Amino acid sequence: MTAKIISGTEIAKQIREELKQEIAELKEKHNLVPGLATVLVGEDPASQVYVGQKEKTSIALGIYSERHDLPAEITQQELLALIDRLNKDPKIHGILVQLPLPKHLNETEVLYAIDPKKDVDGFHPVNVGKLMIGEPDYLPCTPHGIQQLLIRSGVKIEGAEVVVLGRSNIVGKPIANILLQKKPGANATVTVCHTGTRDISFHTRRADILIVAAGKPKAVTADMVKEGVVVIDVGVNRVGKTAEGKDILVGDVDFDTVKEKASAITPVPGGVGPMTITMLMLNTVKAAKLAAGLA
Ligand code: GUN
Repeated sequence: MTAKIISGTEIAKQIREELKQEIAELKEKHNLVPGLATVLVGEDPASQVYVGQKEKTSIALGIYSERHDLPAEITQQELLALIDRLNKDPKIHGILVQLPLPKHLNETEVLYAIDPKKDVDGFHPVNVGKLMIGEPDYLPCTPHGIQQLLIRSGVKIEGAEVVVLGRSNIVGKPIANILLQKKPGANATVTVCHTGTRDISFHTRRADILIVAAGKPKAVTADMVKEGVVVIDVGVNRVGKTAEGKDILVGDVDFDTVKEKASAITPVPGGVGPMTITMLMLNTVKAAKLAAGLA
């Protein structure tokens, strides 16, 4: 079997078209313009690219975008003061603080300081808790994007054996939580594997849907999966530069061999990546509607 390629680029484009229309309608009928503030501390090149993409996509869809680039030496108090201002600013419906933050800053305290109503990343403990009990306002962007990739590719999630590699707060834990909810597009049997798992292959070989967020190139090889598995590769590993000086990106899955056994697989790049940004836009629109009493 050679796998169908699940194109995040294409599916993200569809969702963005839907959002663009919705944003135009909000403006026309309610004079409401969703607003997103991005906060970037320091000069991590990957984070600069991500924040740039978020800003560009916001503008393309008609979202008001405000970018705050802060020096790496900013103090915790200065950063908290900015978040406080953004919390109170009625033009801003969503606040995104790009992670990771420099080591001297307390990331947890920063995430707690964002008003949960403006927490379009879904990282505030209030929103984590709401997801856990099945009453989410905002689903975290990458896991929500993964669920949409599966649904919009026609993959049956209900009753499936889903195996997740990785237990991060950004991907592994929330995707496991989303897919185990008793809801359409979920209701799966979910196993989460991590560095403490005794025999990872034992679990991955049982998977109907394998979601890999391990942070390691070739963490999944063909011998670790069964025929017909659907593979979602969340990995972004920079393994070198092209002759033109561009980063060479690979996922966490050995794509060339695994695609020969899988029924469907996401590529890197062009898989999960474009979905993450798109779901951030969706959350920003939702935040604006909630603030205006329209959701
Ligand atoms: N760093 C890596 N992924 C993310 C994300 O989804 N949101 C934020 N804020 N930072 C990140």
